[in-house]
Amino acid sequence: MCGIVGYAGKRQAAPILLDGLSKLEYRGYDSAGICVQGERELRVFKAKGRLKVLSDQISGGAAVPGVVGIGHTRWATHGAPSNINSHPHLSDSGKIAVVHNGIIENEARLREWLIGKGWHFRSDTDTEVISNLVGYYYDKLHDFPKAVRAAIKRVEGSYALGILCADLPDMVIAVKKDSPLIFGYGEGENFIASDVPAILKYTRTVSYLDDGDMAVFTPDTVRFFDSFGDEIRKSRETVTWEISAAEKGGFDHFMLKEIFEQPKALRDTISPRIRDGRLELGVELSAEFLRKLHRVYFIACGSAYYVSVLAKYTLEKACKVAVEAVMASEFRYSDPIVDDHTLVVAISQSGETADTLAALREAKSRGAKTLAIVNVVGSAVAKTADQTIYTWAGPEIAVATTKAFSTQLAVVYLLALHMAKQLGTLDEAEIARLLGELQKLPEQVERELREENIERIQYYCSRNYAHNSAFYIGRNLDSAVCLEGSLKLKEVAYVHSEAYPAGELKHGPISLIEEGTTVVALATIPALFDKTISNVREVRARGAEVFCITLEEFAERAGKVSQYVFPVPAAEPMFQPSLSLIPLQLVGYYIALNRGCDVDKPRNLAKSVTVE
Ligand code: AGP
Repeated sequence: MCGIVGYAGKRQAAPILLDGLSKLEYRGYDSAGICVQGERELRVFKAKGRLKVLSDQISGGAAVPGVVGIGHTRWATHGAPSNINSHPHLSDSGKIAVVHNGIIENEARLREWLIGKGWHFRSDTDTEVISNLVGYYYDKLHDFPKAVRAAIKRVEGSYALGILCADLPDMVIAVKKDSPLIFGYGEGENFIASDVPAILKYTRTVSYLDDGDMAVFTPDTVRFFDSFGDEIRKSRETVTWEISAAEKGGFDHFMLKEIFEQPKALRDTISPRIRDGRLELGVELSAEFLRKLHRVYFIACGSAYYVSVLAKYTLEKACKVAVEAVMASEFRYSDPIVDDHTLVVAISQSGETADTLAALREAKSRGAKTLAIVNVVGSAVAKTADQTIYTWAGPEIAVATTKAFSTQLAVVYLLALHMAKQLGTLDEAEIARLLGELQKLPEQVERELREENIERIQYYCSRNYAHNSAFYIGRNLDSAVCLEGSLKLKEVAYVHSEAYPAGELKHGPISLIEEGTTVVALATIPALFDKTISNVREVRARGAEVFCITLEEFAERAGKVSQYVFPVPAAEPMFQPSLSLIPLQLVGYYIALNRGCDVDKPRNLAKSVTVE
């Protein structure tokens, strides 16, 4: 979490830094700060709270002259959100300023050592250890890049850093390990940022820094070095995203915009992988390897973990292989049974989630073949896995995922079909039929997003937003979709909510159902419809307000036992979760809106969780 930016050029730095930070606020919004090189000193401005607080204080940057600077938006780890703990941090000598995304694990030891050397600390952050350490070596070596290299050698943990030195007013140094950092090339100006949207307005030509890389740049020059200090060349890539992809484009929130982008995101993810009716997934999972498979693990966090749960149902049915979905934060410490007959699939939108990355590395070290399903190109998870399948969802800005989830699920379907083909668990004709059905999904989602359906959800939410407790119930695939629906409500609307397999409710949680409890019931599986409806009857009898999502053909029957019904189009059963999901995303969004929540930036959350 945390976002960093840096600029060296000929334009005023402060407005560019603030603009870049506004595109990174999804990474954290506890505080923001910038440091701009003045005539003879480093000028730091920082404020607790959203970027706007800082921006208002410095008149959008107009009050801060200078053409070189660094900036930061914070998700607090070490030390509470406060002005003092906000970045940038100056060294005790005042010569060095640092912005940092990551965690310094040996912070306590280094702090103690520096205090012993007479260096003072003002904040509770781990980052101040870096500014003081660079300051310490700069005083000794009188060489800024060498001082940074010496400091970094002593630091354990993860970092993407932007560093300024008061004595070198046109230079910025950037260095990274386990936290993302990109370098952007302009005309007479250069940039660094944690993520592409921060600099997309200014340049499309970027280099992705690898672990250990250091960039030393001025407005007109850049030199890259590897972790040994040897100069290296970095390949330049062209970003193909439209700038509009990182703007709200007329929608009130990114979350709503991204919900509406799902048909396109699904099309972009599915279509290039189907040529002339044949599946071309572009991964090497040979029949020989798959036949000897002992098990497949899906590892991921949060919503991506829920995609993994759906993947378990899907792959076990289509491919007849044993699949386990494991939360990445648990995988690493559970002594998982992994060998070279194991396939481990990591799913991540950001590709930088610390738990997922650590679990993936653990799997690799145990000999598994690894595959990543990732949205952010060139991210750490993508680089770590043996092979990567990208979801082409485009930039996802809202903290609550929607289109990334949908596209991850689409890749899971493609993967299931690819494996089923190799293993011969589905015949060619059936696979061709299923691919045809899969290609219908974008249009079906489009249908779900029609005005009349949105109004239906809005109506339901306007009458039910005040409830503070909700249950999401369903069976089989529906129960897995419930997990995601329930998380959406929790994270954006702050409603305590539980997802439970409908048949399991009577074994305990039903005691929590009382007059007015919200129950969202998913009953989209024809063979299980009656069973789920029996569970709906049980909660209705105890006073629950039921919102039932079911197939169009079952809507009338569902309406006899539920106060509200939302019919969804019928898809191929295997792909139905992609359609059941849409009303759940909308319910989360509109309930949050009615409750006055900050939908795109829910409290306490950040989009990229780079701490374990
Ligand atoms: C989803 O709405 C969440 N914000 C969160 O659960 C997220 O899915 C999780 O942190 C994993 O992130 P990743 O996909 O970037 O790895």
